[in-house]
Amino acid sequence: MLPAGWHRRFEHRAAEERPLAPLTTFRIGGPAQIFLEPENVDELAEAIANLRRGGIPWRVLGGGSNLLVADKGVRGAVVSLSRLAAVRRSDRLLEVDAGARLIEVVRIAASAGLGGFEGLAGIPGRVGGAVFGNAGSRYGAIGDLVVALDLMEPDGKLRRVVPHAGFFRYRGSDVGDRIVVRALLAGSEADPRLLRAKVRDLLRERKASQPGWVGNAGCIFKNPPGHAAGRLIDAAGLKGLRAGGIFVSERHANFFENDGTGTASDVLRLVDAVRDRVRRAHGVELEMEVRRWE
Ligand code: EPU
Repeated sequence: MLPAGWHRRFEHRAAEERPLAPLTTFRIGGPAQIFLEPENVDELAEAIANLRRGGIPWRVLGGGSNLLVADKGVRGAVVSLSRLAAVRRSDRLLEVDAGARLIEVVRIAASAGLGGFEGLAGIPGRVGGAVFGNAGSRYGAIGDLVVALDLMEPDGKLRRVVPHAGFFRYRGSDVGDRIVVRALLAGSEADPRLLRAKVRDLLRERKASQPGWVGNAGCIFKNPPGHAAGRLIDAAGLKGLRAGGIFVSERHANFFENDGTGTASDVLRLVDAVRDRVRRAHGVELEMEVRRWE
């Protein structure tokens, strides 16, 4: 239960035992014991301060596109940043709130003639999660664009941070237990028509080589140094391998697809089977890229 005295303030934006599966692209997972959707940064700070005072553990939900939620759901609070979604432009900077969708950011940047964002085309999810996991493609990652971050500390205080060298790494960052509230992203001047054409090409390329956004969680494994996980899994003959309602995608072997009946435990069984077979076939250890909540 929420600590007495503050639930009422959030009543219209708080829920108990809220199903999380529809909020993930995998469409998997049980409910959040407490679900909060703050309307602005002040509400977010207040929510975090109250959860802290009440000793209630919390986690932050972004786009749910790189996430596997346990079948039994999660205890404590899930704080969704979906309502903090503004995108503002000033000169060559985009100031984007954590809940803004990447697809929106890419579209706005292209129309504004800001180059450098095209590599993010076709990546699902929202800015906060993308920054946390340094989402990207072979054409670049979001960390390459970040000039500053507004991060909320676990005590609810907001601080502007200029990332140091090494803050971002392949599919990871030093954000840690802080909440990404806002990012300042810098682009370079470019012709909007060329940018839009480039984005269209990249979307087409992605569509041809990967499944769509729903029923999977993007690449399941990180690419091990010097290898492509998809190629290793494919070469081990594992496309189509199944555990319950989850199977290795025929289109791209580093994606697991949910046939609509899959569970988190199916995913984990398939993860184990694939890791085992890839280890035996290639002597390479695969590490999960998808985050797990349990
Ligand atoms: N390949 C196969 N079989 C497959 C899939 C791929 O042989 O079923 C081969 C391809 O032919 C290629 C190599 O593996 O030679 C690499 O494949 P691809 O070009 O599709 O790129 P990737 O390394 O598998 C990475 C990112 C993707 C990103 C793409 C495109 C990771 C783990 N994956 O995939 O990111 O979309 O490049 O830029 O870094 C994600 O992180 O969730 C993700 C989807």
